[in-house]
Amino acid sequence: MQHQFILRTHHVITLVLCVSASDDFDWTKNEKTSFYYGTFPTGFSWGVGSSAYQTEGAWNIDGKGASIWDSFAHRKGKIFLNDTGDSSCEGYYKFKDDVTLMKDMKLNHYRFSISWPRILPSGLKSEHINEKGIKYYDDLINLLLDNKITPVVTLYHWDLPQILQEKYGGWQNVSMVNYFNDFANLCFERFGNRVRNWITFNNPWSIAVEGYETGEHAPGLKLKGTGAYRAAHHIIKAHAKVWHTYDTQWRSKQKGLVGISLTADWGEPVDVSNQRDIEAAERYIQFYMGWFATPIFSGDYPQVMKDYVGRKSGQQGLGASRLPVFSPQEKSYIRGTCDFLGLGHFTTRYVTQKNYPSGVGDSYFADRDLAELVDPQWPDPGSEWLYSVPWGFRRLLNFVKSQYGNPMIYVTENGVSEKMLCTDLCDDWRMQYFKDYINEMLKAIKDGVNIKGYTAWSLLDNFEWDEGYSERFGLFYVDFRNKNKPRYPKASVQYYKRIISSNGFPNQREVESWKRKAVETCSSSNQLLAAAARKSQGGQEHAGMQRAWPVHDEV
Ligand code: NOJ
Repeated sequence: MQHQFILRTHHVITLVLCVSASDDFDWTKNEKTSFYYGTFPTGFSWGVGSSAYQTEGAWNIDGKGASIWDSFAHRKGKIFLNDTGDSSCEGYYKFKDDVTLMKDMKLNHYRFSISWPRILPSGLKSEHINEKGIKYYDDLINLLLDNKITPVVTLYHWDLPQILQEKYGGWQNVSMVNYFNDFANLCFERFGNRVRNWITFNNPWSIAVEGYETGEHAPGLKLKGTGAYRAAHHIIKAHAKVWHTYDTQWRSKQKGLVGISLTADWGEPVDVSNQRDIEAAERYIQFYMGWFATPIFSGDYPQVMKDYVGRKSGQQGLGASRLPVFSPQEKSYIRGTCDFLGLGHFTTRYVTQKNYPSGVGDSYFADRDLAELVDPQWPDPGSEWLYSVPWGFRRLLNFVKSQYGNPMIYVTENGVSEKMLCTDLCDDWRMQYFKDYINEMLKAIKDGVNIKGYTAWSLLDNFEWDEGYSERFGLFYVDFRNKNKPRYPKASVQYYKRIISSNGFPNQREVESWKRKAVETCSSSNQLLAAAARKSQGGQEHAGMQRAWPVHDEV
């Protein structure tokens, strides 16, 4: 299993696929078929995901430098309840236990990220390499491999070294391209003999829009109408550079893959018989996923982005488009820099045309000329934005197939949250979400989409960015009130285990029994959690408590 991610394809074939032409996507055909019983192709890779800032804690330990998220979260009023990731799940100390949880689930891969400032505290490779940080990731990688779990490593899950933000303006500055490349190169040098699956950036849309346009995320800049485009431009260049570095310096020795993880909601036209709605839905997707995927697969921004941002910039009286331009050399350098496409997907929107007159709050959002709607019938168990719409997943996957020449896809994130106050470990809504979304992914494979693996988001409840700890995405509940941060399995752990061990959904009788069986185990976990809560309310602090975690079947 160690090289499961990697053995799937031949690199040359992938490159050919990456630059092949796109087909037309049929917007009018939205099949919502009944549940499909069947299994995934042999060797399909099942995993869970996490990221450094969201889970590691140890924010200033063993020589780690500060990241933009450390600084942002330490500023009052930025994060819900002023929470921080200072200790989070204490993953830095508890990774051995976490690997045990993963082993018990019989996972094929684990997706985690490397904190850039943990190994390069000043951001720069030329200044100082923090060997203690390297050792942490070495130990984690070795343990995963000992347990036959393939490491899938993200190089940038949003935690830029703070000093690079202060000195250069972070992703607003093109110098990040070389600094990031140096960091990536160091990771290939130190870990690449064991790590074969690399993701350059996680969800660059969020980095650009929430970090530099709306300011809801670190570094919190509100550069409306320009900040996101500039950040994205540099991120795309940085991705391409790292891919080339791997390709020329490491690939022949290390034989790995380098991809990017794009997050995209699906956009469905409100009225499929209305051409303007279809065009608005397509714009929604092109401004979201296409913004990054089209340069990487075809060399340049989607035509519709160039048209809309260019026209709006003209109306504002600007001499040039707010959307930066790639030179012909850059286009050919960027085109085809994907060995696989990582896809994060959570939800869907209905989309319709809506004009935003120029001059009224020019922004990335206004540039798109559209409105997003939701169906109030869609289940919405946790995060405000996250409605469960499984059929949107199949639509998105088919869109990727037709737009980008059927690339190899790894689903790098998919999951659902519940609210902070929900302490019910019998998470029926999550089991339903996984069941339905994974089933739509199976249908997409039957449609011919080239999906090789799936990563549930996430292993543990963790720091959900500006929402702090108020939204729980974990398969395992983490008791954040307890300094030991004990993990408790939710029922969905058992459910996901069944999907993994059956490699899909074998038959109706069996699948229907899964929820019942999963719920049998979660009621005892609920009792344990309630007892722990009573104890802590009774003033007994848990700090230093050495009780073994109530994990998996023994609870
Ligand atoms: C995508 C992000 O990559 C991840 O960090 C986050 O927790 C999930 N979305 C859920 O919001």
